[in-house]
Amino acid sequence: MEEQKKRIMLTGDRPTGRLHIGHYVGSLRRRVELQNSNAFDECYIMIADTQALTDNSGNVQKVRDNVIEVALDYLAAGLDPNKVTIFVQSRVPELFELTCYYLDLVTLSRLERNPTVKSELQMRQFGESIPAGFLCYPVSQAADITAFDANIVPVGEDQAPMIEQCNEIVHKFNSLYGETLTHANIMLPENEASRRLPGTDGKAKMSKSLGNCIYLSDDEKTVTNQVMSMFTDPTHLRVEDPGHTENNPVFIYLSAFATDEHFKKFLPQYENLDALKAHYERGGLGDVIVKRFLAQVLNDVLTPIRERRKQYEADIPGVYKMLEEGSLKAQAKAHETVMRVRRALGVNYFEDRKLIEKQSKAFKKKLAEEEARKAYLAKKNK
Ligand code: TRP
Repeated sequence: MEEQKKRIMLTGDRPTGRLHIGHYVGSLRRRVELQNSNAFDECYIMIADTQALTDNSGNVQKVRDNVIEVALDYLAAGLDPNKVTIFVQSRVPELFELTCYYLDLVTLSRLERNPTVKSELQMRQFGESIPAGFLCYPVSQAADITAFDANIVPVGEDQAPMIEQCNEIVHKFNSLYGETLTHANIMLPENEASRRLPGTDGKAKMSKSLGNCIYLSDDEKTVTNQVMSMFTDPTHLRVEDPGHTENNPVFIYLSAFATDEHFKKFLPQYENLDALKAHYERGGLGDVIVKRFLAQVLNDVLTPIRERRKQYEADIPGVYKMLEEGSLKAQAKAHETVMRVRRALGVNYFEDRKLIEKQSKAFKKKLAEEEARKAYLAKKNK
């Protein structure tokens, strides 16, 4: 099939909050590079509002408000709607038709074994009240991916079990109903620091509820304050003490963000991060100097992002229009896949002329036979 040879990228985010610098180094920065690399025939970025609703049914306003926030963060980070199709999941209902068919190819116990879902369930403490939609969201994610024939899915490590489960569904579907769906490949973030940026408090993950995030939309002062109060090396008590750079969030952030240019611009007494690290580890380098540098680096990276965001914030109707157009475009693509899937499953009743003709003939024959039998009996009983 022509389509299968295309390089198609799809990824997305749940709109449950503004995006932070962890999202930026973990995925957004890469997406912008990929978009500009021209390595793909088609790129889709999805705002997964339906998936967000699976554990926010009592909090729809949060999801509703964050669709626009995430769209603004995308545009601010440099995603270009002329190069990528940005769309809203719920506005492509074809995805839900696919989800329903795929649900029949997955067992409950397989869903319960999905490691990402397992840990999310634990975190959310649903107890006995797990929403069925939440447990099944990996299936709807398989629909998201396959609807676009996406063969490249750039996501974080935590999403690997989703891609695996998607491919199991693809395999099962194709072996039952013939080659129809495309296998997906995960594309992980390139470097270690970008894979999981810790919170400013040193906790493993940035999370809104912990208040340990730096948002893309935070202003300069907020970023500086957050950085100056960051957790560092607890054994580095006096400036002259040797310090640890490993597991030190300030240095992890620097390795994700600081370039040699940043050193030239803000801290020319060090050539690069290795030189700065060596001094910190040797002792004699205070946290304040390192933090001040990190604040400058972050603000340098975030300034153009903030400026672009402001421009888009001034035209909210335009941003919604962009999302609407993207969703229509996505819908057209997903519709092609749905038609293919309907044909493979044999639920394409109305377009299947041959089926209609064949059944029409068979029923006519049956009716004629019944008529003949009736006539025969009537004659016999006379
Ligand atoms: N589960 C993803 C997340 O929480 C969001 C998502 C939904 C997604 N559908 C997707 C990512 C399809 C990649 C492909 O971040």
